[in-house]
Amino acid sequence: MKKRILCIGAGYVGGPTMAVIADKCPDYRVTVVDIDEERIAAWNSEKLPIYEPGLEEIVFRRRGKNLFFSSDIERGIRENDIIFVSVNTPTKDFGAGAGMAADLHYYEKTARQILKYARSPKIVVEKSTLPVRTALAMERILKCGSTDANFEVLSNPEFMSEGTAIRDLEYPDRVLIGSRETESALKAREVLVDLYARWVPREKIITSNIWSSELAKLAANAFLAQRISSINAISALCEKTEADVREVAKAVGMDSRIGPKFLEASVGFGGSCFQKDILNLVYLCRHYGLEEVANYWEGVVRINDYQKERFVMKMLDAMFNTLRDKKICLMGFAFKANTGDTRESPAIYVAKRLVEEKAKIVITDPYALPNARKDLAGIKGVIEFKEDVYEAARDCHALAVLTEWEVYRNLNYKKIYETMEKPAFIFDGRNIIDHQKCFHIGFNVYPIGSPPLTHF
Ligand code: NAD
Ligand code: UGA
Repeated sequence: MKKRILCIGAGYVGGPTMAVIADKCPDYRVTVVDIDEERIAAWNSEKLPIYEPGLEEIVFRRRGKNLFFSSDIERGIRENDIIFVSVNTPTKDFGAGAGMAADLHYYEKTARQILKYARSPKIVVEKSTLPVRTALAMERILKCGSTDANFEVLSNPEFMSEGTAIRDLEYPDRVLIGSRETESALKAREVLVDLYARWVPREKIITSNIWSSELAKLAANAFLAQRISSINAISALCEKTEADVREVAKAVGMDSRIGPKFLEASVGFGGSCFQKDILNLVYLCRHYGLEEVANYWEGVVRINDYQKERFVMKMLDAMFNTLRDKKICLMGFAFKANTGDTRESPAIYVAKRLVEEKAKIVITDPYALPNARKDLAGIKGVIEFKEDVYEAARDCHALAVLTEWEVYRNLNYKKIYETMEKPAFIFDGRNIIDHQKCFHIGFNVYPIGSPPLTHF
């Protein structure tokens, strides 16, 4: 074996990233460890803990050969030379910075574990998304021990998206590696460059100083989320003016300086990272006294909250200002298509608000029902979960499309309409269904960012 690689954190990032490294470098031995034994057991089973297109194939191909999942963190640290850290860095929910700052306690714990168990030189790679200058904390912890082991800390943020993780990892737009400028740090950086160079074109592997690398990750997520909030803000204006947000987005996106991607108006962005990373950025800006900059980025999250609430208010308004006892089918609960992940999904917000309005909700989703059940556990109200979308829609007053699952585009909406209460409504939070067709079937259709098609 040429190199021995460890990843601490077997989550949405650690699992797929290491599977792809193992696949691309069959002569490297890759081990993924986690404190969550159940998660590790799932990685070692036939049913992986996360759904991601193409992931099973790779894991089943490499597992037991050069890809291993284990709970033995101590052994992992002792035996491996390169240690990726991809533990979670959620928003802090207590004390100073609550609701804004990153909670770094999982991250710091890994630094202490590495210090405790390492007996030989290690390259420690930050894979988690972290506030700029976190590498300093990692370095300080690693340098305070009595061990002679030499540590080099690198920043190598991950830019993959869920649902397309395998493709993103196999064909990344770029790989970013940040390091200090010392001789030993530059040498460590070359080791990581060589690893990625196994499958990523050399010109796409970029290097930078360590703080730029940390900040580039936060900035990239903030820019992406900002585009969504920008188009969602325009969608609100479209609904007032009979402009169509899809036509506006097309015209705007054809400017090569702007580009067409990430301009799909929606019920709001979700996912475990956009909101947390922007809030983290906002917190950092405030920490450095940059109030104007903080306010600017905070606006991206504010518009997203506004868009989710606007969607609920549109439903309430359209359905004669009362949702009480009305049955509403939520089509999709995942935060985006092709994943079972529901973290920060706009569907959670919409579901909770509809229950507050005393509506009865029926949730359907091809992969996210187990997570949906957990997200809504303990919420008082009438909530059902049904795998079959036709069954879920039966007897409902309204459908709300919350995830852009491909299968929702071409359902037999005539058949669905016939089983629903009348007047029947569709609120398309993703603009994926054929609005004209559904209108002609008899639905009252409320898209995002264009005027409703109603029979009233
Ligand atoms: P996750 O919650 O799915 O996985 C993190 C894992 O780390 C968990 O299984 C947890 O049990 C484990 N863990 C925590 N502390 C540990 C410790 N001390 N020792 C061993 N294991 C420990 O999170 P994720 O979605 O994989 O995200 C991880 C990081 O990557 C975050 O910083 C996130 O911002 C970043 N990121 C996520 C994505 C994404 O698409 N999810 C993309 C890019 C970057
Ligand atoms: C995002 C980034 O795209 C990744 O580059 C980054 O690595 C990752 O966050 C991270 O740091 O965790 P992800 O959250 O998995 O990836 O998925 P996205 O495709 O970015 O979608 C995020 C949310 O925005 C989803 O709810 C999606 O439906 C929504 N979205 C996306 C829109 O509403 N409109 C769009 O045009 C695009």
